[in-house]
Amino acid sequence: MKRMIIDCDPGLDDAIALILAHHCAEVVGITTVSGNVPLAATTANALMLTAMLGVDTPVHSGAAGPLVGAPTYAPHVHGESGMGDFEPPGHDRTAAGDDAVSYLLDAAESDTWVVAVGPLTNLALAIERDPDWVTRIAGISIMGGSIAGGNVTPAAEFNIYADPEAAARVFASGADLVMCGLNLTHQVETSDALVAELRAAGAPLAHFAAGLLDYLHGVMAELLGRRATAMHDPCAVLAVTHPELFEVAPRPVAVEVDGTLTRGMTVVDERTGNQGAAANAGVAYRIDAPRAMALVRGALGA
Ligand code: RIB
Ligand code: CA
Repeated sequence: MKRMIIDCDPGLDDAIALILAHHCAEVVGITTVSGNVPLAATTANALMLTAMLGVDTPVHSGAAGPLVGAPTYAPHVHGESGMGDFEPPGHDRTAAGDDAVSYLLDAAESDTWVVAVGPLTNLALAIERDPDWVTRIAGISIMGGSIAGGNVTPAAEFNIYADPEAAARVFASGADLVMCGLNLTHQVETSDALVAELRAAGAPLAHFAAGLLDYLHGVMAELLGRRATAMHDPCAVLAVTHPELFEVAPRPVAVEVDGTLTRGMTVVDERTGNQGAAANAGVAYRIDAPRAMALVRGALGA
């Protein structure tokens, strides 16, 4: 099994990604960051998820905001708590530490991936403190950005938009990097049929996941007119555990930090030949969506 640390901002699709990762990888640690909801909530949600999964994965909390400016949250998508309308059970879990950056640096192993599914603040701070860190891990799989178009603005995807300066540092770090952007993640979408299947399965985890997805489908019906949601964060996990499902191409990727309309945009250079900068990321273009969804369904207990 692939070893990984999940850096996340749970977050409903982060929750699905954490369930999937614990099902099909060796998750050695979780680091949390401010993103969908404030850091205290993302950390509480990560701890609750380890309790629900019955795993002892350590949770280290990290950055409470971006490198520059104020935090950007998404309660309109994930709810004020970050877990929709789910009422979390009591548990006795506490964070293993509040210095995610030191944990990321100390836990670096040549066979350990970092799967980043929230704003990239913790990773950028780790790189700032030790630029060689990226050579001491297996690689970085990011849910973030897009080859074209955004979700928070016409140009920017949430994880990049929430901390563009951090994203720019990560993309410029020289890391072995896979980018699962919106162009990729929207190929893998859930349905109410899956919610019904999970509810029929009866197991507590399946019932929990059904509730999260049902909530998200309600939000998406309001926002986009469709009761479906993209498996954004789970795709970044699968890019590590099941790379054979993906078509990835090396591309120069830069992050816009100054543009009035384009701040937070991932600028993917698709020009052929020797034009522009050298490729610094593997950009995911295609995924075998049926097989990806089968893996997600299996992990959730469908
Ligand atoms: O744009 C989607 C990303 O933003 C996902 O990681 C979701 O959890 C939010 O953080
Ligand atoms: Ca996320």
